[in-house]
Amino acid sequence: MLNSNILKLKLTAINGQDYAGYQSLLGTYDFGLFKLIIQQIPKDPYAPPHTGIYRIQVQRNDNRIISLKIESKVQKIACADFLARHFFDASQKISKGIRGTGFSGIITINQPGQAILERNSVVIRNDIIEIRCFLGLPADGRKIISEIAENMLFNELSDIVSKSLLNENIDQKALKKHIDVAEDAEYLRNELNSLGLIAFIAENSILPRESGTSDKPMSDKSVIPFSAPDSLMKEIELPYAGKIKGMGVPKGITLITGGGYHGKSTLLNAMEVGIYDHIPGDGRELCVSNAQTVKIRAYSGRYVVKTDISPFIKNLPFQKDTISFCTENASGSTSQAANIIEAIEVGAEVLLMDEDTCATNFMIRDSKMQQLVNKEDEPITTFIDKVKQLYLEKNISTVLVLGGVGDYFDVSDQVIQMINYRPLDMTSQAHKIADMFPAKRKVEDEAYPFQSRERIPISESIDPLNEYGKFAIYAKEVHRLNFGKQVIDLTDLEQLIELSQTKALGFAIEYAKKYVDKKTPLREVVHRVIKDIDENGIDVISDKISGHFAWFRKFELAFTFNRLRGFDVIQKDMDAI
Ligand SMILES: Nc1ncnc2c1ncn2[C@@H]1O[C@H](COP(=O)(O)OP(=O)(O)OP(=O)(O)O)[C@@H](O)[C@H]1O
Ligand SMILES: [Mg+2]
Repeated sequence: MLNSNILKLKLTAINGQDYAGYQSLLGTYDFGLFKLIIQQIPKDPYAPPHTGIYRIQVQRNDNRIISLKIESKVQKIACADFLARHFFDASQKISKGIRGTGFSGIITINQPGQAILERNSVVIRNDIIEIRCFLGLPADGRKIISEIAENMLFNELSDIVSKSLLNENIDQKALKKHIDVAEDAEYLRNELNSLGLIAFIAENSILPRESGTSDKPMSDKSVIPFSAPDSLMKEIELPYAGKIKGMGVPKGITLITGGGYHGKSTLLNAMEVGIYDHIPGDGRELCVSNAQTVKIRAYSGRYVVKTDISPFIKNLPFQKDTISFCTENASGSTSQAANIIEAIEVGAEVLLMDEDTCATNFMIRDSKMQQLVNKEDEPITTFIDKVKQLYLEKNISTVLVLGGVGDYFDVSDQVIQMINYRPLDMTSQAHKIADMFPAKRKVEDEAYPFQSRERIPISESIDPLNEYGKFAIYAKEVHRLNFGKQVIDLTDLEQLIELSQTKALGFAIEYAKKYVDKKTPLREVVHRVIKDIDENGIDVISDKISGHFAWFRKFELAFTFNRLRGFDVIQKDMDAI
């Protein structure tokens, strides 16, 4: 480790030189309060932040540093998440921003969203806390400006570290709240199963968001806090928040209905992201769902490889195989069918669907249509005829948002009507209506089974090299992942919420190849990757230290594989393995 004065001397020596001169700064420096490891410096000032890594390490036994009492994994994740947010806020306030070409002058850390996630921008070990940030070393064109660099490293960075890690600068109450909120949400989520529930929405939760592009809570005065109908009200005692009340969504089939603009999708969205713990002030801190909840939608154009969609679709034109269905360009209904089957394949326990994003001809075929178009001429068995079977045979619950199809009353265990953003339990009325007006439609193909088929990935079909033979895995948008020669479109993975998850998914695909051995099914491959991350931290997915990864589930990993064009599998009946 070098004295930080050496860094100053090095900086003076390269002033005015070409940007490449910055490479001489690589090394470890002692700043007293912290150690700075300059690990990777981009080759030019336009290179995006993830191409540079600066690691700041402080000793946890240094009594100037925030003392963290960590007794569980949830606490550790919440502490690191809290510190990442503090570092981000401090860097926003203290760094003077862009000063020169490209990213010159910025100091930043991967920006966290509304969820408390395991992220590797802050790593807490027994002895140290490590922050992984980015500094845009400044240049005029490609000419090094040492004076600004010195100011960034010796004044701004030091101030940011003090502000975000010194005991005296940390709001202990806020830290405790961050941890308690995460622990309560985890506790609540773990309780769901034994209570016969798949989701819980606490009283007074704020579900609507600021806008279609902001995940922050709606702060409007007109916001209506959530209030549960009496019949679905549950009281639960949490470790920190004490006794709380809210709406328990029971297992089975739940229909969320009601007029347009009355808050149906907003309620479903809260269940979608109920798989994550939310930060204090988010409004959804105590809205949780079963951890194996998967949002399903249609998304035409997606890639599908050897997926058995025959429970929903068979007898396609030109005898196209649907037991081992492949396409470069799925239609609305086939994409939705594939999404469901692939979710079941990796262990989904709850499916969420919203009419806004479903294929209508996948959801229902009404009686008039049944009379006009013979079943022999309609490849689709609609979801209404399969939803009960999914629950009875596979124990998979479904929550459906449907404002326009009363035939679903017949198959729903609960019917919740949203009126002016408030849920009412309309189950008995809906069932009465269903009895009074028996459905004229015929149930179709209900006996056709959901076969368990394994899909065994083939290693050669997972290639991270681009057209120049270079390793290329990167993401600039949450729903777009560049992997080798391919761009993976993740638009329909609506439960992906942060860019850092997408980046991690890219590396996880490459990492997963260690388990791809012509024997292990995809279901097991993704399970092993998640187990490795659980046991060793998210750093495990890459050889290189990074500060840009955040946690994701096995589902998102499997679904990313499934959308990688060229990805290939061997399909087998479960019994054949
Ligand atoms: N509790 C609430 N308080 C205030 N505004 C809300 C609340 N819940 C939802 N909203 C807002 O109301 C609007 C409509 O909500 P949402 O999209 O959930 O309706 P919807 O019932 O799904 O409508 P549609 O049937 O047209 O799809 C959105 O702009 C949403 O942010
Ligand atoms: Mg809607």
